[in-house]
Amino acid sequence: MPELAWVNGEITDLYDAKVPFMDHGYLFGYGVYEALKVYNGQPFSVEEHMDRFERSMKEIRIKPELSRKETIEIINDLVAKSEYQDALVYLQITRGVGPRNNPSLPKAKPTLSMFVAYLPPIDDSFRQNGVKTVIVKDDRWAHPHIKSLNLLPNILAKQIAEENDAFEAILADKDGIVTEGASSNVYAVFKDTIVTRPTDGRILSGITRLVLCKIIQQNGFNYKEDYFTTEQLKEADEVFITNTGAEVLAVSDIDGTKIGNGLCGPITKKLYDLFIQEVNREIRR
Ligand SMILES: Cc1ncc(COP(=O)(O)O)c(C=O)c1O
Repeated sequence: MPELAWVNGEITDLYDAKVPFMDHGYLFGYGVYEALKVYNGQPFSVEEHMDRFERSMKEIRIKPELSRKETIEIINDLVAKSEYQDALVYLQITRGVGPRNNPSLPKAKPTLSMFVAYLPPIDDSFRQNGVKTVIVKDDRWAHPHIKSLNLLPNILAKQIAEENDAFEAILADKDGIVTEGASSNVYAVFKDTIVTRPTDGRILSGITRLVLCKIIQQNGFNYKEDYFTTEQLKEADEVFITNTGAEVLAVSDIDGTKIGNGLCGPITKKLYDLFIQEVNREIRR
């Protein structure tokens, strides 16, 4: 079977999957999610993703019915049933079904759903040459550290990126300080120091960021968690973004300003190689 969905225990083809209209996930965006990459049939960093999923659920007061172990078993089973060795697993839980005027639904059963779908590899030219980005004002809700379904500002920022033929939107607050990408964390390299914003509640704590920061420290790179403006970012020697799908990806252009020599820089390349080594170590392929 190809791309598959699992909704409260029922497996279907992805585009046949259905959730009820009155689910508060649909009505209010009341829910949280995870996205994991599958390499060689195995989800990468599954425990770290489950840690974040459980943190997110707790923050929005959803109590899962299944244990972590049961959830991981379902993920593994769905991956095994799909045809994909390299894929995306999307996992979502919402408040469940109930009247619209009742915000808490104490008795509702949360709707757990997930899918396994094809995840196209990053274009080789993007990998070598870096990607174009645009700066967009960060006007998201006040709790972007929760991986919530309220992604409208992120989606609008992505649309602005698309309209400008850019791969990603880099978000900045009203003072011009970079927060993160619309779906990624952002890093600058100044001389030989890698800098990324601290996880201060204004950004999502990316799992790729978590894994990469360990790699950075284990390999003796100069590393600092700090704030930088969009203007400072444009003057960095290298800029890169991370997320589950793109892994470690160079940025070569921000709002038309070329970064470094306009190609993937040496530190970004080294970090990408080390990240893939870490994936291969965990996945053992
Ligand atoms: C806003 C935002 N920041 C950062 C990330 C990176 O997180 P991860 O590395 O866990 O994919 C994502 C992923 O989708 C995101 O949506």
